[in-house]
Amino acid sequence: MQAKLIEPNRIELQQGMAQEVLDRVRGQKKTYYIETYGCQMNVRDSETIAGLLQRMGYLPAETKDTANVILFNTCCVRDHAEKRLLANIGALKERKDGEEELIIGICGCMMQQADVAKKVMRRFPFVNFVFGTNVLWRLPELMLSALNGERLILTEEEGFAICEGLPARRSNPFSAFVNITFGCDNFCSYCIVPYVRGRERSRELSEVVGEVRALAEQGITEVTLLGQNVNSYGKGMDVDFADLLKAANGVDGIRRIRYMSSHPKDLSPRLMAAIAENDKVCHHMHLPVQSGSTAILERMNRRYTREGYLKLVEDLRRTVPDIELTTDVIVGFPGETDRDFEDTLSLMDQVGYAAAFTFKYSPRKGTRAAEAADQIPEPVKKERLKRLNDLQARKTAENNQKYLGHRGEVLIEGFDRRQQTILFGKLDTFKMVYFPGDERLLGTYQTVTVTECARNSLLGRME
Ligand code: 5AD
Ligand code: SF4
Repeated sequence: MQAKLIEPNRIELQQGMAQEVLDRVRGQKKTYYIETYGCQMNVRDSETIAGLLQRMGYLPAETKDTANVILFNTCCVRDHAEKRLLANIGALKERKDGEEELIIGICGCMMQQADVAKKVMRRFPFVNFVFGTNVLWRLPELMLSALNGERLILTEEEGFAICEGLPARRSNPFSAFVNITFGCDNFCSYCIVPYVRGRERSRELSEVVGEVRALAEQGITEVTLLGQNVNSYGKGMDVDFADLLKAANGVDGIRRIRYMSSHPKDLSPRLMAAIAENDKVCHHMHLPVQSGSTAILERMNRRYTREGYLKLVEDLRRTVPDIELTTDVIVGFPGETDRDFEDTLSLMDQVGYAAAFTFKYSPRKGTRAAEAADQIPEPVKKERLKRLNDLQARKTAENNQKYLGHRGEVLIEGFDRRQQTILFGKLDTFKMVYFPGDERLLGTYQTVTVTECARNSLLGRME
């Protein structure tokens, strides 16, 4: 769906409030701290929140303990994060008792659930505000109300319109996340995302490319295009994800384009061709399979079969021969039999993923699968997860072996804190390589030859 935009007059109003906050805190060296849980979407949202706070005159705090504003950006997708969050908020009570000016806010997916947001506000009278994922742009209003001693809940925004042009404080100087879609329309039966992040909306192609261009001008060379299902970018518009890849590929200064996540049901031959044809598009795809059993996939509402998925992998590898695949898998989905689980193992064995994120099914209130009568007992889930992880560990090691002697370019993104002479960076295929080198090479591209394949990582040397 093409996105509705927030009306300019509403944005101006917020800008006025941001100015008011700035006037109030100017010269006081006020600081903020954001604790982020969950996926890249949340990481990217926290960057926007940080950008907005800095526009209001706040500076990043060294630690949570010294911050004047503390925000929790929450996740509700998988584990039982709610208890942990409530404990973390509770732990701040004492500090707030002695420091009334401390501002505490809670945001993110978990707060998009109206009942949870209300519970947090009720249980913790010292929390200043709670807001959802679609109203980041109203942070000035929230901050101003907190400074005025008022409490506010802002969750659902009618129609989930997109706000363009918000500032961001990016966390990585070489590589940046760029949102291309928000929300999700797929309603996989286990997943809470469509309920908390709303319907799928795509940003205008010109907005995305404009942001990529601006990032390149700031010296960023790698972008990761983000969406719950990037493959369906542009639904209802006259462009698609293949067009977007082509347009981003044309931006000077950008050397690598990554994207995540891809839904198998929307992986078209046209898109495969675009990956092959556009030289900056990296040869890595995160293609969540979730299960290797057609019966379970059906109950998950994934809209592909085991055979269909395997055929996609075959076509993809034919079109882009060196592409690496990573995936997400859920074990212990309601009704999963031993046979279904064996199907997952055999699919994993057959595909040979470079890496896999594996999860025990965890019921999310409000989703269809949570209502199913045939939930799987915890010990069974645990045992299946272990078997799956053991298999993937073998497959990862096996996959690593093929890199012995491989020569390729890496973007140096960090150094090992314990041994400062060890740098690391990823190959085009998302494989991480560790090698000796000078810290001053951070952010540069270097050619590395892989000399050793450890179980979990590749070691190499620079040319
Ligand atoms: N239980 C377990 N795993 C889940 N995921 C999403 N919802 C659930 C759930 N209820 C996993 C899926 C998805 C990834 C982001 O999180 O594998 O791809
Ligand atoms: Fe959740 Fe499925 Fe949408 Fe991914 S595609 S966010 S798993 S509903």
